[in-house]
Amino acid sequence: ICVLLLVAGMETSINLVGNGILALLDHPDQLELLRHQPKLAGPAIEEILRYDTPTQFTMRVALTDTTIGDRHFHRGDGVIVLMGSADRDTEVFTEPDRLDVTRYAPIGRSPRHLGFSLGAHYCLGAPLARLEASTAIRTLLQRAPGLRLATNEPLSYQPSIIHRGLTSLPVELTPDAA
Ligand code: HEM
Repeated sequence: ICVLLLVAGMETSINLVGNGILALLDHPDQLELLRHQPKLAGPAIEEILRYDTPTQFTMRVALTDTTIGDRHFHRGDGVIVLMGSADRDTEVFTEPDRLDVTRYAPIGRSPRHLGFSLGAHYCLGAPLARLEASTAIRTLLQRAPGLRLATNEPLSYQPSIIHRGLTSLPVELTPDAA
């Protein structure tokens, strides 16, 4: 159980913070909005989970013959659920490719995302992950108002199809805004 908690909770949380900071650096207007309204940290984390989710897919096994949309599954079939794709669904989200830190403000207003999955296996650590990520990002923005990307080189991602996260995110933590 301890190993499961460590594996399920560490890489994912690291990637949420890294993906989130990168998304904000790519959207300076959203970064400034969040910096000036720290109470948006909670909704911003929900948006980051939707926009660039650390866990891209999960798997299920059909317990009975069933049909979802136009797909038929037999009992025992494996199903791969692309949560990262579902969270960019144009039929569910307005302008899904746009990062909008107010999309979930107040929390619960907009359609749910699948960043923590759904149903019986919904992430056990979701409240902890939300607290960790919102504290980390809010504190970083407060302490480093001049936060900026410290490289012009393309960023690289971990060689994983399930986890989406950077191998590193070089930033400058200048205390004063430029
Ligand atoms: C940003 C951080 C996190 C993300 C994106 C995340 C994502 C997920 C997802 C998508 C699932 C569901 C997998 C499925 O449906 O098959 C899951 C399950 C789980 N998560 Fe997280 N997780 C995060 C943080 C954590 C933390 C901090 C912990 C524990 C301290 C944790 C513990 C677990 C456990 C134990 C499960 C399995 C639950 C079950 O199978 O019933 N997670 N997580």
